[in-house]
Amino acid sequence: MNIVLCGMMGAGKTSVAQSLARLSGRRAVDTDALIEEKYGKITDIFAAHGEAYFRDLETETARALSAWDDLVIATGGGFVLRQENCDLLKKKGKIFFLRARLETLLARVAGDASRPLLAGGAEKKLRELLPVRTPVYERAADCIVDTDGRTVDDIAREILSRLSGIF
Ligand code: S3P
Repeated sequence: MNIVLCGMMGAGKTSVAQSLARLSGRRAVDTDALIEEKYGKITDIFAAHGEAYFRDLETETARALSAWDDLVIATGGGFVLRQENCDLLKKKGKIFFLRARLETLLARVAGDASRPLLAGGAEKKLRELLPVRTPVYERAADCIVDTDGRTVDDIAREILSRLSGIF
């Protein structure tokens, strides 16, 4: 069974995935990292080909990952916005939404220029995206986990205990 993490930029998906991998013996993968290995930096992909092209690369990645088992999959913030990607990852996985308040997200993305969607003002962009995306993450998720003020390991332990309750 794969553990799939979704949520906003700065929700802590990559760090929680590392902790989950350590605690559960699964291998951690990150959809952004897989895309960057094959196609180069995300900022360059957005600049050269646009967001729609990047979203197609995400779906290609979802297809590849849907054949694998026992992974922890940290998804990019927009990954589960496409229903097809959710359907693919749900074949062998449960999706957890790492929910966080705006203040928490802002603190985590501060000073990081690697996210093209936050160029030109992280706070303004996150304020716009958060209310639009939150219901989508909620619908995509099998479980919602609140992350504000918690350590990465604490969040990972909750996910593992809730995963065992799903079956
Ligand atoms: C995006 C989030 C990023 C990355 C890309 C687009 C988004 O991933 O996939 O910049 O649409 O929210 P993180 O959530 O890991 O920052």
